[in-house]
Amino acid sequence: MKGLMGGALAVALVVAVGCASMDDRMAMNKKSLYNRLGGKPAIAAVVDDFIANVAADGRISRRFESADIPRLKGLLVEQICEASGGPCTYTGRAMAEAHRGMNIADAEFDALVEDLVKSLDSFKVPAQEKSELLGALGGLKGQILGR
Ligand code: HEM
Repeated sequence: MKGLMGGALAVALVVAVGCASMDDRMAMNKKSLYNRLGGKPAIAAVVDDFIANVAADGRISRRFESADIPRLKGLLVEQICEASGGPCTYTGRAMAEAHRGMNIADAEFDALVEDLVKSLDSFKVPAQEKSELLGALGGLKGQILGR
């Protein structure tokens, strides 16, 4: 009898804990990606680190030799903030226009994404948020490569 009650209690506990974590997950999924990333300060920190990686990446750094880096950083923060559901408006040029005539190769696009992943990893952005953000940016590839 005691054993049976203990079993029932254990089942009740497992069910309760299971429900709680499901609620947590549901609450998390209702939060915007922007909030889950940590808002604008977190996005700005990742963008800073990302641009430093790009500047040190011999595969693509020359592309940015004459770029206005502070402006580019600001626009990237706006773009990521807006795309992730944050309270920002991207004020830069459309991706096709901004990259027109650059003839960016697939390998260069991949190199830049790799530099971003490095930053996301060093800031310990969880897999779910990382893949949502990379998915959103990956959708811009056709416009950036111009094909
Ligand atoms: C997901 C990928 C990318 C995103 C989200 C992105 C985003 C942007 C943004 C927001 C701008 C500023 C637009 C403006 O000037 O109004 C920009 C400019 C630029 N991008 Fe990209 N870009 C991507 C990939 C690349 C790649 C792969 C390269 C080259 C390897 C590249 C090279 C440049 C350059 C050189 C500029 C101009 C900077 C300047 O003249 O100040 N971008 N990009």
